[in-house]
Amino acid sequence: MKVLVVGSGGREHALVWKISQSARVTKIYCAPGNAGIKGMAECVDIAATDIEALLQFTKNNNIDLTIVGPESSLAAGIVDLFEKHGLRIFGPRKNAAILEGSKVFAKEFMQKYAIPTASFKIFDDLKKAKKYINQIGAPLVVKADGLAAGKGVIVAASIKEAKDAVELIMQDRAFGDAGNKVVIEACLQGEEASFIAFTDGKTILPLPTSQDHKAIYDGDKGPNTGGMGAYSPAPVVTEAIADYVMNKVMLPTMEGMAAEGRPLKGMLYAGLMIEGDKINVLEFNCRFGDPEAQPLLMRLKSDVVDIFEAAIDGTLDMIEMKIDPRPTVCVVMSSGGYPGKYEEGKIIKGLARAVKETGVQVFHAGTARKNGRIVTAGGRVLGVTAVGKSLEKAIEQAYKAVDCIHWTGCYSRRDIGAKALRRSETLGAQVTDRSALMTQPLETEAAVLVAIVMDSKTDLLVMQAAADFLKKMSIPYEMKVAPVHIASERLIHWASTAQQRGIKVIIAGAGIISPLAGIISAHTDLPVIGVPCEDSLRHGMNALVAMVQVPSGMPVATMAIGQMGAKNGAVLAARILALQDKEIAAHLQAFKLEIIRELEEQAGNIEG
Ligand SMILES: Nc1ncnc2c1ncn2[C@@H]1O[C@H](COP(=O)(O)OP(=O)(O)O)[C@@H](O)[C@H]1O
Ligand SMILES: [Mg+2]
Repeated sequence: MKVLVVGSGGREHALVWKISQSARVTKIYCAPGNAGIKGMAECVDIAATDIEALLQFTKNNNIDLTIVGPESSLAAGIVDLFEKHGLRIFGPRKNAAILEGSKVFAKEFMQKYAIPTASFKIFDDLKKAKKYINQIGAPLVVKADGLAAGKGVIVAASIKEAKDAVELIMQDRAFGDAGNKVVIEACLQGEEASFIAFTDGKTILPLPTSQDHKAIYDGDKGPNTGGMGAYSPAPVVTEAIADYVMNKVMLPTMEGMAAEGRPLKGMLYAGLMIEGDKINVLEFNCRFGDPEAQPLLMRLKSDVVDIFEAAIDGTLDMIEMKIDPRPTVCVVMSSGGYPGKYEEGKIIKGLARAVKETGVQVFHAGTARKNGRIVTAGGRVLGVTAVGKSLEKAIEQAYKAVDCIHWTGCYSRRDIGAKALRRSETLGAQVTDRSALMTQPLETEAAVLVAIVMDSKTDLLVMQAAADFLKKMSIPYEMKVAPVHIASERLIHWASTAQQRGIKVIIAGAGIISPLAGIISAHTDLPVIGVPCEDSLRHGMNALVAMVQVPSGMPVATMAIGQMGAKNGAVLAARILALQDKEIAAHLQAFKLEIIRELEEQAGNIEG
């Protein structure tokens, strides 16, 4: 099979690298590519936005599949054109790519579908925009409506900065027509994270979480860039947050876009701002992030071509994505002066030595070949990416490789991933394989032992007790909300493949008269433990009876109602696992001794 990748950055190098691992692929082309991509693909000198030329090339060379990297090609309508000619292409059509291409569209869409985002107002008149800025005061954020290569957003600390920003966009027209309208929105606080998924318009298949580093200097200081580094997973996105994002952001966005007659296909990327339990969407992108693609694709174990094809065919629900549980880190090396003015054509030294470091891949972004040497040809030059047993190790390896590489004026941030390390320290957990798993339920299908499934988000309060106990026992688990009445097909598929994915025990929490636990038991050979979730006794009784009264041959080991039952469900799951896992058996033994000690203390209190 012949594949064409459109684009020329680090993201595209990572895509080509991953596609080259597919046994089904015989030839890869990249347009226009870069010096690093040249080693793995045939680079063709066609710009990513010259979609007519790309169409001709694809036809002339009998390309079977085209993968689009950058947003500019999508906005130019490459998918519409290729589809019109019956060609297979991965990405959204123009009318869906508007979710990224117009911030005005995205904000109005989020408002309409109740997707959490900063409050905002839209202006097409400079005077009215300034008047509004006077009214609400600083800080606030000014955004040019259209694509502006990451430069159209100004976070203004003062009224003057905000007014300068609208003048730059609307009066000086720094971004051309992209500045016909502006969004003025509330300035949010918190930590940013990227939530990136494949979608075919019917299913969201989330990749692990990741985090970009936008600012040029350490400590997130200085002007914004295209991204100076990234890592995955991002511990700021806890399992509860990931669930929330799936249910309140990703699924409603996919469904809303379909309802608008703009079905999404390709990548759906939500840029999030997280402050405690407040989660807001900053923006959507309709393509892989750069540099997030580099660490994410390095963790993806499945054949990515299968996923691209399933997205095109609308069969993503059949894909079981395998993810390497080990964290990855990408450190971007840039030209001196970037994101301002910089020089090109500097000879890059030490590349061969860098790639010899264990677990390291060097993805090229702005590079070219000149007189047989690899030289700089852009602001962001390389994405040095490493995988490690722990995040700490991955960071160490990435910087070891960075330190091998040199050119005049080269620059990189020295604190990529530090935020995640700090977070894991404050949580008292090392970011090792297991703890990384536990903060990332969505991505850990390979190593998860227990799955906690719920009928609705309201059951989360009860089922958290099960999760807490599993965490205490260091048992990797995942939590899923699967509303049985509207998603039974997906649930059945999930249940019937759970064992295959390495899951050993399923705990199902459900209220009222939900058939969730019974349905799961009917579609798996794994032990299923049921927890009736309603708090009020009568309703709890209904849930209890519905759970116990299942047809013969599909048992649900039913616990007590509520949190106590949830915790006991986890204890029972641990006991089942302990039959074959000495480590878990030891944790359980310690837990038992702790309980006995507590009971003895209580008895002592009575005697005393
Ligand atoms: N409402 C907001 N509050 C605070 N910071 C914001 C807000 N909106 C955007 N930002 C900052 O600006 C950056 C760029 O904004 P974004 O909406 O992602 O546009 P783009 O990526 O197209 O430039 C974000 O990554 C974030 O750091
Ligand atoms: Mg952004």
